[in-house]
Amino acid sequence: MVSSEKYIQNRLDERKVLGTYRSLRTESDLVDFCSNDYLGFARYPALKVSIQQEIDAHPLNLNGATGSRLISGNITYTEELEQQIASFHKNEAGLLFNSGYDANVGLFSSLPQKGDTIIHDELIHASIIDGARLSHANRYTFRHNDLKSLQGKLKQAKGVCYVVIESIYSMDGDTPPIVEILKLTEQYSANLIVDEAHAVGLYPFGLISHLGVQDKVFARVVTFGKALGCHGAIILGSNLLREYLINFSRAFIYTTAASFQQIAAVKMAYELLSKSSPEIEKLNCNINLFKQGIKQSETYPLLQSDSAIQCIILNNNERAKHAAQTLQNSGLDVRAILSPTVAKGAERIRICIHSYNTAEDINLLTSTINNIIHA
Ligand SMILES: Cc1ncc(COP(=O)(O)O)c(C=O)c1O
Repeated sequence: MVSSEKYIQNRLDERKVLGTYRSLRTESDLVDFCSNDYLGFARYPALKVSIQQEIDAHPLNLNGATGSRLISGNITYTEELEQQIASFHKNEAGLLFNSGYDANVGLFSSLPQKGDTIIHDELIHASIIDGARLSHANRYTFRHNDLKSLQGKLKQAKGVCYVVIESIYSMDGDTPPIVEILKLTEQYSANLIVDEAHAVGLYPFGLISHLGVQDKVFARVVTFGKALGCHGAIILGSNLLREYLINFSRAFIYTTAASFQQIAAVKMAYELLSKSSPEIEKLNCNINLFKQGIKQSETYPLLQSDSAIQCIILNNNERAKHAAQTLQNSGLDVRAILSPTVAKGAERIRICIHSYNTAEDINLLTSTINNIIHA
């Protein structure tokens, strides 16, 4: 019999040798260039006040949900919020999940069946891969943003086919050719599903409704833990899809519902988002300031991205970690993204730009990065 402690220790030691060991950190006083709080909602005092006022205005609500949505955890407030969020995104219906991870696992593990096909971009988020693995459907990946590669997989698809993309990719920050992908999915009668985790905020209600193509998209996943500064997620789609997920999605059925406090926070964050154009403008200015400040290097390029996620490819774990450490020593909280989270050779520093970063901080960031990549 092999001891589990020995297995655990070996795996951890292996990570240490490979330089891929992960450990938790607590808060720091470095300038934030790594969080997903793109518009500063998580730290916005007025939002904190409005959430508290909303909670105080509903004194009869309980501290906890007391059960799953199907047993004792469902309240009118949640159902009304789902409808309100669906309207913000110009969709028919929505169903809340406790996180984006849960939403993707809950969707992809329950909808595609044995004999069906899931085709996703090779850079798709881990939660989608995990959900797809739990389903009994065939799973194919296509090369990142490559229409030919997608078409090749569409030709092989059997049963009901689901094509899955992100509207802004979480690790590269780039945008796929959505209109062209929609043309292909229409041509092959496939259903397009879009994860909008990193697009909501930069485009207030996501890129799909910004492009006006929401009626052609089968479903969208929107998370509340990024630009909305809260926690949780919603799957947007038809009333029929909502009804299906309530009946078949295990990540929805077998879990305690979010508390009233969490739901109230999401409601207030959406109200703030609907009047946040100055913050969005500021975020875009900061993204431009950052991009203009970087002197491109052929060896360590800045990836093409117009989003809040900006990456410098440093080609190995050690160089990425060293660059992140140098930036942290200068007071800037930038994190390295290592393999196996990204492919070997694509190790990087991933910079998240925010509306609340100052020009001074961004200038310090770009000059420190320039020193690293042109040393
Ligand atoms: C593209 C994408 N989808 C889903 C998730 C998961 O969302 P959550 O953090 O709410 O679980 C993330 C977060 O890392 C993400 O980047």
